[in-house]
This record gives sequence, C-alpha cells and structure tokens, in this order.
Amino acid sequence: MPATALRLDHLAIARQFASAPEDWVVPPRFDPVERWYHRLAATEDHEVWLLTWLPGQQTDLHDHGGSAGAFHVFSGTLTEDTVNGPAHAPRVVTRDLGEGAGRRFGTHHVHRIVNRGVDPAISVHVYGPALTTMTRYRLSPAGLQVLTVDRAGAQW
Ligand SMILES: [Fe+2]
Repeated sequence: MPATALRLDHLAIARQFASAPEDWVVPPRFDPVERWYHRLAATEDHEVWLLTWLPGQQTDLHDHGGSAGAFHVFSGTLTEDTVNGPAHAPRVVTRDLGEGAGRRFGTHHVHRIVNRGVDPAISVHVYGPALTTMTRYRLSPAGLQVLTVDRAGAQW
C-alpha cells in the first residue's frame, strides 16, 4: 500500500497523549478570563493541543479550515453541538462526552464545544494537518452565517 493511502488515526493519537499526562510539556491551567489552551506537539502532518474548560466556558461554532481531527475528554464532561445539513437549513445535534470519551471529525465538521457541567474539564485535541484557519459561525434565522476567519499565528 502506498504511504499516501495510510490515514492517521487522530483519536488514537489524542488517547495516546491523554494516557501520559506526565509527559505534557506544560501542566493544564484554568483561566476564568480566557479559555486556556497550549500546543503539546506538532509534526508535519498533525498537531496536538491541550485545552481546559471551566464550567460555562465554550467555543463559538467553528470549522477547522480543512483539517480533520479528533478530541478526547481527559476529565470532566464536555458537550458538543454539531451542525449538520445545508447552511441555509442547519440541524444541530448535541452530544455529551464524559471522561474517556472522544470523537473523530472530518474536514467539513462544524461544531461548538461547551462545558455545561459543574466541574472543570480537560481535553486533548488533534488536528491533521495542523490548523491554518478556523472560520467562526453563528446560527441565525437565515441559517449558518460566517462571523470571522481566524488565522494561526494571528488569532491563536
Ligand atoms: Fe473544533
């Protein structure tokens, strides 16, 4: 099989990092003002991020600029709202992911992650290839609308 046919299992990578917190380059911190995140690793075909979530902290709806990926809940419980369907008539699917749960996502995935629990949460995220842009969206009566396009190195 040619090497290009091999696909990385981003969730397996996330789980591998989650299984060895003693190897994380920084310990996780919680920031009540701004959601805390830190890049744990980067290779030519993927990158690994550590994120923390105090109760109530969340992302906006966003995509991953053409990267695929996965995330794994190291501790706490996170809720993922995924937007499916056409942009003019989106449907939102909500899932709770507890400690040890994880999800893979493809290159067109639009979601929002929220800590709706009462305990802080920690998660490990893998993106392949590394994120270069993320488009942020909002849901309006007219459908999914673009808010901003953020670029790596400028907005995060
Ligand atoms: Fe995401």
